[in-house]
Amino acid sequence: MDKKITVVGSGFVGAMVGQRTVEKNIADVVLIDIVEGIPQGKALDIAQSASLEGFDGRITGTNDFSEMDGSHIVVVTAGFPRTPGMTREELAHKNGAIIKSVIKKIVTYAPYAIIIIVTNPLDVMTHLAWKLSGFPHSHVMGMGGVLDEARFKYFLSLELQVSIKDVEALVLGSHGESMIPIESFTAVKGVPVTELISKKRFQEIVKRTKQGGAEIVSLLKTGSAWHAPSSSVTAMIESIIRDSKRMLPAAAYLQGEFGIEGMHIGVPVILGSRGIERICEIPVKEDELKDLRTAAESVKKIYENLKIE
Ligand code: NAI
Ligand code: 2OP
Repeated sequence: MDKKITVVGSGFVGAMVGQRTVEKNIADVVLIDIVEGIPQGKALDIAQSASLEGFDGRITGTNDFSEMDGSHIVVVTAGFPRTPGMTREELAHKNGAIIKSVIKKIVTYAPYAIIIIVTNPLDVMTHLAWKLSGFPHSHVMGMGGVLDEARFKYFLSLELQVSIKDVEALVLGSHGESMIPIESFTAVKGVPVTELISKKRFQEIVKRTKQGGAEIVSLLKTGSAWHAPSSSVTAMIESIIRDSKRMLPAAAYLQGEFGIEGMHIGVPVILGSRGIERICEIPVKEDELKDLRTAAESVKKIYENLKIE
């Protein structure tokens, strides 16, 4: 394939991003991890399914970061998940150190790559990655909103008993608990959701979506979701590699859009071969805008209190 992507962190999310990317014939994939044998073993296993799944791309695994050389996109999934009792700040501190070491490698070996951060807490880690990399803001983004939106659409399609293909939704804000669903953009084939279900039921679905990650953690007992997260990352990769210019939510650097300055937060963007090609400043209600600004303030506060050695 003439395009190459690297996934740093070959755990649950990372390996599955690699699998989905090669299976869709989007690009060749390099899986990287610090644990010896893990990226090599997982990549070999996925590669051996090529004749059955019908893909032509190559997937390899390594502990050598220099093998990311020439990557169009580097996805970063290296990091710990939040464990019970751990605050966002504690997680930011732990994963911040990992992001710092990974970004150093990306700057050295793939200085022209587009970076997609997956590591939590998502918006803070994305801002940190952008700062440390010195890359243009169009080249550093975070995946959170695509997953929140996918979960929201799924729960709406269940509730309304309609094909998920006809459900439209749009979310803003921080990934997870403080995501902001935009009610006026939630519809079934253009029919506003408010005409289809009660306000109370809508709010219950919003609540379940916000806790979508936590619900899975409580079922799994150890670890967090990876199937829908990897699909979400792959949708972003595909839009960039194929230059599809899809409008997807991503943690992006704002410079006055929505009245927010100098911080990463989830907003709708156009994703193409140049990365974030445009931020879509859609019209939102005053209370939604207020929630978005509050979310950005909270990301900023955690970022400013980060102490990364
Ligand atoms: P995991 O534990 O299965 O995988 C993490 C991998 O990173 C491990 O294989 C580990 O060896 C590797 N790693 C650690 N330090 C590294 C370094 N310096 N360089 C390279 N690799 C390194 O975890 P999982 O489930 O894959 O989740 C990864 C991260 O993604 C977590 O922070 C999790 O919270 C986050 N996540 C974010 C989502 C989102 O929507 N933004 C969705 C799902 C997970
Ligand atoms: C999720 O939402 C843990 O961020 C991860 O599933």
